[in-house]
Amino acid sequence: MKTAIVTGSAGFIGFHVARRWLEEGWRVVGIDNFSEYYDPQLKRDRAAILARFPNYLEIEGCIETPGLLRVAFVDHQPTHVIHLAAQAGVRFSIEEPQTYLTSNVQGTFELLEAARAYPGAHLLLASTSSIYGANDRMPYSEVDKADTQMSFYAATKKATEAMAHSYAHLYGLPVTMFRFFTVYGPWGRPDMALFKFVKAMLSGAPIDVYNNGEMRRDFTFVDDLVEAVWRLSAIRPEIGDSRGDFDSLSPVAPYRIVNIGKAQPDTLGEFIAQIEQSLGIEAQKNMMPMQPGDVPATWSNTRLLEALTRYKATTGLNFGIPEFVRWYRDYFGR
Ligand SMILES: NC(=O)c1ccc[n+]([C@@H]2O[C@H](COP(=O)([O-])OP(=O)(O)OC[C@H]3O[C@@H](n4cnc5c(N)ncnc54)[C@H](O)[C@@H]3O)[C@@H](O)[C@H]2O)c1
Repeated sequence: MKTAIVTGSAGFIGFHVARRWLEEGWRVVGIDNFSEYYDPQLKRDRAAILARFPNYLEIEGCIETPGLLRVAFVDHQPTHVIHLAAQAGVRFSIEEPQTYLTSNVQGTFELLEAARAYPGAHLLLASTSSIYGANDRMPYSEVDKADTQMSFYAATKKATEAMAHSYAHLYGLPVTMFRFFTVYGPWGRPDMALFKFVKAMLSGAPIDVYNNGEMRRDFTFVDDLVEAVWRLSAIRPEIGDSRGDFDSLSPVAPYRIVNIGKAQPDTLGEFIAQIEQSLGIEAQKNMMPMQPGDVPATWSNTRLLEALTRYKATTGLNFGIPEFVRWYRDYFGR
């Protein structure tokens, strides 16, 4: 039976990814430290669903702990490693930069060291659209220069991209680096807008609307993202296997960066209108300025994703937001 290690398996995306791999009949080894960045009970509840699969094994621990990942590689001989554990969140990285350094940079270093010692697995690593920072050429393309990160979160993710490239080059490790664009859906993150807005609106509280609702985000439904990750996991980057001038494949390493987004941004105003419709509640809006570290717009160019996988994300807010609301009401009994 094929084995995948999924780091961050109790997290929003890690849970959906691990569940898909289990449903496909794989053995999955999940690793998570159940950090208290947001309510760990939500993470425990996701992990409990994974634990119902007989082929699921969980390791509770911090990925930056020296040797933890190395032992997991030796014990479980993964063919694929999907690395999603990280300290996420743009705003929190202004308050607590240290945890980003530890989880994202040190944690990814430990993962690369484990892969160097026990090579063979395809490494699939999560980066972010925040990498594009102050780029104003839209849609964002993987082959564009991306050197103007505006938050420390994005800076640590950019560091992991460079670190992984060097290991791919030096040790021939196949690496697919994902740049995810604002992911949402059932079991989502309490620090993200959709969760916060639904929670506030159901309790009659106002919502904070940044940049007067004029921000644009390439909102990507989690099932679309999982499908893209699943298909990309079957495509190991190989030097020379470029799909064209839009391919980010490195000339010196089996390393490729791929945007995963819907390629069709919506404004925050449209996003809120869809939540209002799904809940049947009109939001009380606190209009706020733009937050430090935030970018006014994100928009993915997904030509590379489509060329590699023949897949295009299509789920719109009119399906995705009601799906989230259904889950939220069911989970919290509201
Ligand atoms: N959700 C999005 O919109 C989005 C967008 C771009 C990139 N990403 C990236 O995707 C990945 C998954 O994000 P998510 O939204 O599921 O976030 P999440 O916070 O729900 O999941 C991350 C998980 O990693 C775990 N974790 C954190 N630090 C750890 C450590 N040091 N050791 C072990 N486990 C640790 C957390 O407990 C959590 O369960 C992250 O790398 C994130 O940066 C997410």
